[in-house]
Amino acid sequence: MQPTDTSAAERILADRARYVAPGMATPKLVVAHAEGARVTDPDGRTYIDFAGGIGCQNTGHRHAAIVEAIKEQADRYLHQCFMIGTYEPYVEVCRRLAELSPCGGGEQRSILVNSGAEAIENAVKIARTATGRPAVVVFDNAFHGRTLLAMTMTSKVKPYKAGFGPFAPEVYRAPAPYPYQGISSDDSIAALEHLFKADVDPSTVACVVLEPVQGEGGFLAMPPDYPEKLHALCRSHGILWVSDEIQSGVGRTGTMWAVEQYAGAEPDMTVFGKSIGGGLPLAGVTGGAEVMDTVPPGGLGGTFGGNPLSCAAALAVLDIVTEPEFLAGARELGETMRARLEEIAGRHPEIGEVRGLGSMLAFEFAERTPDRAKAVVDAAFERGLVLLSCGLYGNVIRLLPPLNTGPEELEEGLAILEESLGA
Ligand SMILES: Cc1ncc(COP(=O)(O)O)c(C=O)c1O
Repeated sequence: MQPTDTSAAERILADRARYVAPGMATPKLVVAHAEGARVTDPDGRTYIDFAGGIGCQNTGHRHAAIVEAIKEQADRYLHQCFMIGTYEPYVEVCRRLAELSPCGGGEQRSILVNSGAEAIENAVKIARTATGRPAVVVFDNAFHGRTLLAMTMTSKVKPYKAGFGPFAPEVYRAPAPYPYQGISSDDSIAALEHLFKADVDPSTVACVVLEPVQGEGGFLAMPPDYPEKLHALCRSHGILWVSDEIQSGVGRTGTMWAVEQYAGAEPDMTVFGKSIGGGLPLAGVTGGAEVMDTVPPGGLGGTFGGNPLSCAAALAVLDIVTEPEFLAGARELGETMRARLEEIAGRHPEIGEVRGLGSMLAFEFAERTPDRAKAVVDAAFERGLVLLSCGLYGNVIRLLPPLNTGPEELEEGLAILEESLGA
C-alpha cells in the first residue's frame, strides 16, 4: 500500500523502481499526456518539452493529422508482416523516400525496420553485400545504437559499451572534425589516410558511416567542406558512404536531410529513424538501386519492420515536413534559438561554444565534466522544462523542441533554460 499523500507521479516512479530493470535509465519525468511542445504529468504539472523523446517529435506531440492517419489505419488492419503480404502504406513510404532521397545512384529503393540501430545494422549488411568487403569505418563521438554491431560502432564507453563486450569485429575508428577541440576537416581526412596505412586495408572496407551532425556526441555539425572530402576519399577506394540521419533528418536542420546543406555530398545510403514515424517506431535505409539490389530476396526483413500504423503515421509526417512553410518555420526557429543561445552564452562565460545546424542546436560547457550540464538539466526540470545533455564528457546541453513550437513557448523554454544556468 502506498501512503495516501503520494502523488500519482511518485506512485508510478515507486512501481518503476520495483518492476523496471534499472539499466533502463529515465530522469524524473512521468508522462500522462502530451500535445505540441508540452507534456503533462499525472498530477497535472506541465512541462515545455525540448527533448521530444530524443528527437522523435519534430512535428510535435500528437499532431492532429498524424493521429488521424493512425486511427484511419487502425480501422483497416494492424500488423500484416511485409514478408507475408504487400500493403500500400509501406510501398508509399518508400516511394516518397525515393523522391526525397539525397543519395546518388539512380533509382532509389528503401527498406523499413523498427529502430535506428536495426537500420544501421541493415545498412552495413547491404554495404557488405554490395562491395563483398567486411570492414566498417566509424568516427569518434559517433552514436549508432545499442545492438551488438551498432554498439561497437558507437563511441562512448560509459554507459553504452562498458561490460558489454566482446564487440563485433572489423570496426575501425578515426577522429571526426571537431573544430572547437582543434580537429579540422583536413586533420580527420589525414587520420583516415593514416588508418588505411596503419590498421585496415582500404580495399577491405565496405563503408564509412557518418552522422552529418553528430547527435549524442555533442551536436557536432560537420564543417562545410568535410562531407565532400570524405566522399572523394571513399570513392578513391571504392568504399560506400553511409549517412546516419536518424537524429539530424526529417527537417531538424531546416532541410529534409542535413546532408542537403553540404555541397558535393551524395551518400550511397541514408539511414533514418526517430521523427519519421511521428511517434511510432519506424526507421530504415534508402539508397541507389545498384547498391540496394545486391541483397537477394529474404536477406533483409523482420516481423514488425514497416508496421502499417507506423507507415500511415510516416506518410502524414512526410506531408507535413515537405510543406515549404514547415521547413521555413524550422529554419526561423533555428535562427531565433541560435540568437538567444548566443545571447545567453555572452552572459555565461562557462559556456565555451554554441553550435549546431538549423534547429539542431546545443552549447558546450568549457569544463569537461558532466556536473554543470546535469545541474542545469535538473534545475530546468524543477522549473518545468525537459532538457537533455549529451557529448562524450556529458558537458553539452542540446535542444530538440518540436519544429513547430510557437514563439511564446519557445521563449518560455529559453527563459527557463537561462534561469536554470543561474545568475
Ligand atoms: C544518430 C543516431 N543513430 C542511431 C541511433 C539509434 O537509434 P535507436 O535508438 O532507434 O536504435 C540514434 C539514437 O539516438 C541516433 O541518434
